[in-house]
Amino acid sequence: MSGDTANNRVRIFDTTLRDGEQAPGCSMTLREKLRIASALAELNVDIIEAGFPAASPGDFESVKAIADANFGPTICGLARCNPEDIEKVYAAVQGAEKHRIHVFVATSAIHREHKLRMAKEEIIRSAVGAIEMARSFTDDVEFSPEDASRTELAYLAEVVSAAIEAGATTVNIPDTVGYTVPGEFDELFRYLKTHVKGIDDITLSVHCHNDLGMAVANSLAAVHAGARQIECTINGIGERAGNCSLEEVVMALRTREEYFQLETGIETTRLYPTSRLVSSITGMHVPRNKAIVGENAFAHEAGIHQHGMLQHASTYEIMKPADVGLSRSSLVLGKHSGRHAFRDRVQELGFVLDEFETNRAFNEFKKLADKKKDIFDGDIEAIIMNVDSATAGPWILKSLSVKTLSEQPAEANVVLIDETGAEQSSTASGDGPVAAAFGAMEKLTGVSLSLKNFELHSTSTGEDAQGEVTVTVMHEGSSYRGRGASVDIVEAGSKACLEVMNRLIRRERIDAPGRIPADRATV
Ligand code: KIV
Ligand code: ZN
Repeated sequence: MSGDTANNRVRIFDTTLRDGEQAPGCSMTLREKLRIASALAELNVDIIEAGFPAASPGDFESVKAIADANFGPTICGLARCNPEDIEKVYAAVQGAEKHRIHVFVATSAIHREHKLRMAKEEIIRSAVGAIEMARSFTDDVEFSPEDASRTELAYLAEVVSAAIEAGATTVNIPDTVGYTVPGEFDELFRYLKTHVKGIDDITLSVHCHNDLGMAVANSLAAVHAGARQIECTINGIGERAGNCSLEEVVMALRTREEYFQLETGIETTRLYPTSRLVSSITGMHVPRNKAIVGENAFAHEAGIHQHGMLQHASTYEIMKPADVGLSRSSLVLGKHSGRHAFRDRVQELGFVLDEFETNRAFNEFKKLADKKKDIFDGDIEAIIMNVDSATAGPWILKSLSVKTLSEQPAEANVVLIDETGAEQSSTASGDGPVAAAFGAMEKLTGVSLSLKNFELHSTSTGEDAQGEVTVTVMHEGSSYRGRGASVDIVEAGSKACLEVMNRLIRRERIDAPGRIPADRATV
């Protein structure tokens, strides 16, 4: 082994805020992106791809804000191979002590012919020009030949050689459409290793999509064959079927260290809380059976498994829940539990709250404990996530009452608190209680949404378990997800809907101040 391959440290490049955010319904506000970037820093990722500054003024601002916050990891921005994009990335990331410009151009025949209408040589010239320009701004430049896995091998090697000669310090090989399989990808990396001059002097990277469910397996094949950077997202969110899941690939390397002989710098105990944070912000629910961070990932139901577990955990457990930050205990909290016990449990669950957030969460906990006897970890997580969106405002749900009679439209009365602290109330009817509540909130906030999907799952067990509702709604042709929890599912759905309305209002204020006023008169 030589150069970077001799090094057994794999860099983790997180693209949750760029490729992850491109997933339908996953767009985030600046404040939410900053929260995620700070959590990624605590997770100790090496590089944060914070966005695509040329995509929109909002994207530029969020990359800049994340770079200026200097959380610790290298901050990277994506650019096409043109001067405007590259200048925008540099302007956005330069505030970070460690920053990177990532340029990309598609190289496969399909993309050359149908998307770019460019000849092979033209593509190489464009990549070389872009890399040289980016190098004039910074010493840390990454290049990606988009759709590399469907590019002719000899041509790919030519492109990568030219990129290295032009000054790229990281070359990333994307499986853009999730088409490759592990054996084939292993061969591709070995081919590049033997056919590209200077490849051992740069960091070779891998970027996989999950269209055939092999993003993690393909990324592992690539590092086994010499890649030393993995591009991935929290919970595997991303375009279509998503990207390589950070938590899965990191825990695979750690759990099978004797096989891979590789390590990452990830603080694995932050995996679970970071996953929950991203899930709550994007509204993308983590499936119960998702590896590493799903609710059932460490649950043992079958009697024979439970028996084995009681004898020795290693019989059926290849990782310890605590290693990924999951410290579920059978201990439940209730209405007599004090602030101290609550704060300890919050910390055990991996959340870091300031005094203000702790107070708000504790108040919500007390309210819930009045309605529900036992408060489980899932309830506490739901409270913390709700408190965050509630404090973000501008509207807060004060109360909701619904009237339903069979074969008649349902009627809902909603009271919201606006930013001035004033209560505003509205009544609407609808086909069901949820539609009626949504209608009443639309009148107050001025944001109209159409409901596409309403998913319900319980955050804990028992008859009085809280319902956690995820709604998918459409607004002006785009889809958004929101989440809310309550022991009352209509209220949970209303909170989820209000969360989206609040997000849209906050975003509109940044993009076009005054378009959706939060202080609309009562209707
Ligand atoms: O999937 C892809 O090819 C990408 C590149 C821009 C790296 O996201
Ligand atoms: Zn991608």
